[in-house]
Amino acid sequence: MSEGLWTGRVVLVTGAARGVGRGTAEYLGRLGASVALLDRRADEVSAVAEELRAQGVRCESFGADQTDDEAVEQAIAGVIGAFGRIDGLFANAGLAVMRPFMEISLKEWRKVIDVNLTGTFLVVRQVVQTMIDLGIPGSIVMTGSVSGMHPMNQTAHYASAKAGVIAFGRELSRELGSYRIRVNLVSPGVVRTEATEFLITQPAISTMLQQVIPLGSWCMPKDIAQAVAFLLGPQSAYITGAVLPVAGGNEVIEWWPIDYSTPGPPDWEKLRPGSSTSGETL
Ligand SMILES: NC(=O)c1ccc[n+]([C@@H]2O[C@H](COP(=O)([O-])OP(=O)(O)OC[C@H]3O[C@@H](n4cnc5c(N)ncnc54)[C@H](O)[C@@H]3O)[C@@H](O)[C@H]2O)c1
Repeated sequence: MSEGLWTGRVVLVTGAARGVGRGTAEYLGRLGASVALLDRRADEVSAVAEELRAQGVRCESFGADQTDDEAVEQAIAGVIGAFGRIDGLFANAGLAVMRPFMEISLKEWRKVIDVNLTGTFLVVRQVVQTMIDLGIPGSIVMTGSVSGMHPMNQTAHYASAKAGVIAFGRELSRELGSYRIRVNLVSPGVVRTEATEFLITQPAISTMLQQVIPLGSWCMPKDIAQAVAFLLGPQSAYITGAVLPVAGGNEVIEWWPIDYSTPGPPDWEKLRPGSSTSGETL
């Protein structure tokens, strides 16, 4: 992808302290974009911004929890103060937790929906307002997940939130078309990041992933970044409302393949010995 396409463009990336967000910010920065980074991990995201500036990328970071409307408003005001505009938004920050349905507490359900769905709504709302105010025909890419498209197991709250993000993005693509603002989604399969390290480092799981993903393995943040750059940038000028799986050809990973011949509660430990069933500790 040619560098000239990105020169002068300002892209806000959320969840940029780690994983997919960080990788995408680095990739867009290398293509010549100016990047604003938002993350609730203020120190980590500030260190990422420093690294990017050292590589010659115009970059600022903003520590904000995307579930906090006021903090988001201040952060977006900060982006406008620093860069004067926002041409693109990668609304990517999210929280994945895996837990058997009957063990999901109301607190955890609310947290997962709040971070993934409501937090995305708050950021997108502020950015769209800015784009409309400044008359910018912007581009938005959100991070869905294959779990929001196909049933798996142990992700009832996360899958519901991501299905919501996908519906939200597709809905907006209709409504924002009249502003010439495009909205698309990437739906990653398995990406090796801090969030998935606890799964991928387990030999049984890493072997399973290599066996069932047609392209042979999980991907790295750069693989998502390349798809995001396409959907955010001018080369996809006539694409809106698309959901692009970036999943190596397998959108339905059976993390814990349930044996349905035996009625009763699944014995998760027996289904995938040694594997924990939760992601980030809440
Ligand atoms: N890694 C995968 O296999 C995978 C697969 C499908 C979808 N996804 C999605 O991709 C996105 C990135 O995932 P990742 O693997 O890079 O995760 P990650 O945990 O490595 O990074 C997520 C980043 O989001 C930030 N964040 C979390 N909650 C936040 C909040 N309330 N406000 C602001 N920032 C917040 C975190 O601090 C972190 O820096 C997420 O939306 C995730 O659901 C990941």
